Amino acid sequence: MTAMARKNASRVLTEVAQFLCLVLLLTLFSAIAEKPAASQSGSGQSDNAAAAQGTDTSQSPCKGITSNPSALKNSLVEVPKYQKTYVLVVGGSARDRITAPDSPAIRSLSIEIADDSQTSSVVQDLRLNNVQRVPASDQSPVSPLTDLAAGKVDAVIMWAPLAAAGLIDLGLEDKVSLYSVDRPKNPPPSFVVTQAAGAPDACASAIADDLDSFGVLPAELLVPVNIRSLFGTPTPTFSMKGAEQGEQVFQQICARCHGQHAVADPTLAPVDLLVSIRRFQFIGFKYIVLNGRPQKGMPPLRGTVSEAQIALIFQYLQARSKT
Ligand code: HEC
Repeated sequence: MTAMARKNASRVLTEVAQFLCLVLLLTLFSAIAEKPAASQSGSGQSDNAAAAQGTDTSQSPCKGITSNPSALKNSLVEVPKYQKTYVLVVGGSARDRITAPDSPAIRSLSIEIADDSQTSSVVQDLRLNNVQRVPASDQSPVSPLTDLAAGKVDAVIMWAPLAAAGLIDLGLEDKVSLYSVDRPKNPPPSFVVTQAAGAPDACASAIADDLDSFGVLPAELLVPVNIRSLFGTPTPTFSMKGAEQGEQVFQQICARCHGQHAVADPTLAPVDLLVSIRRFQFIGFKYIVLNGRPQKGMPPLRGTVSEAQIALIFQYLQARSKT
């Protein structure tokens, strides 16, 4: 009996000891677990401050922009890559039915557009019938997106820079899918500019990044440039100023593959542009830049680089090949 009682007592003791061990372990654990949490909340304050600023730079560069017609116009004309691109913005349950810009299911969607001549001609070319039109208005330029968010329609077709500005401003980015549709088409009449756009402002950059991350292709990429369309392209008149500007463009767009100095580099593109440029007519040069040599690692750059920029790069390479 006593032996039994002793056995029981020792079992209780072991259990108590085990329990204590567990408590100790748990305390240790939570201390460890808390540590990063604590250090996070320590830097959390500055993180929060940074996040507040971060929100300023990642979201609010476009905050309220759709209700400020002149700011909107100024920003949107500075999204060069997507000036000629229109997108299909699909929302709600229709997102499951549309998986590609050429899904036949597009015909079954109810689509809303702003009634301007360019957007109208996009839906006409796509032969879409189920289209509701709202007046194109400076005061509410993204009202089709508001209707989309309210579930009044399945989709919207809109000029890409305007659509992205609206999605950012209205906070709808994670509620829609975007596809570029149709071939390059000029911006809606109220967004056409005659003079060249300046450097992108913060909102314009946010818009371009957004369209990139939605996987929207510049419309130019959907159609190869036909060499015939380049016949008659005048060779740019060489100037030192052009060459200097061309150097900047080259560094931005070409240097990641052709190297900072445009000479052959075994780790990069296996061509020496300073040699190539001597044999290239401008038209051939432009043709390669626009269409690339996709099988050999040079991507088509149409939609990414403007014709004026190609002319500047040409002058830069000419200047370099002479020295
Ligand atoms: C993603 C990488 C990449 C980028 C960006 C790029 N290129 Fe290329 N490029 C290549 C590769 C690779 C080749 C070699 C293709 C081949 O073997 O024909 C090439 C070839 C060329 C050629 C043909 C040269 C020859 O002698 O046949 C020209 C001209 C050219 N690139 C110009 C440019 C210009 C101008 C830019 C910027 C506007 C640019 N490339 C941007 C990768 C790139």
